Amino acid sequence: MAQKSHIGQFKGIIRMLALFLTLLLLCLNAPVPVSGDDSTIKLPAPRTEGSIPIETAIRKRRSVRSYSSKSLNKQELSQLLWAAQGVTSEEGFRTAPSAGALYPLEVYVVTGNVQDIPPGVYRYRPQRHELIRVKDGDLLGGLSEAALGQKSVRLSAASLVFAGVYKRSAAKYGKRARRYVHIETGHAAQNVYLQATALGLGTVMVGAFNDKKVRDIVGMKKDEAPLAIMPVGNRK
Ligand SMILES: Cc1cc2nc3c(=O)[nH]c(=O)nc-3n(C[C@H](O)[C@H](O)[C@H](O)COP(=O)(O)O)c2cc1C
Repeated sequence: MAQKSHIGQFKGIIRMLALFLTLLLLCLNAPVPVSGDDSTIKLPAPRTEGSIPIETAIRKRRSVRSYSSKSLNKQELSQLLWAAQGVTSEEGFRTAPSAGALYPLEVYVVTGNVQDIPPGVYRYRPQRHELIRVKDGDLLGGLSEAALGQKSVRLSAASLVFAGVYKRSAAKYGKRARRYVHIETGHAAQNVYLQATALGLGTVMVGAFNDKKVRDIVGMKKDEAPLAIMPVGNRK
């Protein structure tokens, strides 16, 4: 009799543990809550088959610093962000390689002249291919000032801003993490260059800027370091 009640207690504990584990897993997989309907913008699905051969895009890639006043459309912005950090596998792997698949990069976009997207600062969320609104208003002038007055940023329809979260990679790679995060920015930036070329758009890697000013304008989090700006617009 006593043995039977012990078995019953043991089964109860196992059931509780299973329930606890299920709840924990559900929590880990749970989507990050957003604070209201208008705080996210769903991007149209990116095109995943090429319009021009990769060799043509590589050959034609050039830094373009002057743009026409024509707006970008949502599809073009979707394509550029996907090229930078889009998810391309069920496991969550992305368009650009990442040491240990730890993905330390965050991509912001400062918009000024993009159809159906109000001027502002947005953070790209690769897992859902959507934008999260960070700030309202046209901040391209301010971002240009932060980039030592570079006109390319002010003239752009939108500027992508890459931030690195070193600690994500440092947990595994220690001191080498900084190197890896910078290498990864180069990978993502080259994808943007080639994608812009394929779309007939222009972009340039901007590395000269005041870190603190860029951080403030974009509204970056404390653990994010600004690493690159890529203004984009239609070629003149
Ligand atoms: C790390 C890095 C930083 C750069 N910073 C700037 C910059 O601040 N402003 C700019 O106009 N171009 C910048 N460039 C673009 C280079 O000037 C450009 O790549 C170079 O002139 C070669 O021209 P191409 O890209 O058309 O082949 C940078 C490029 C790299 C790789």
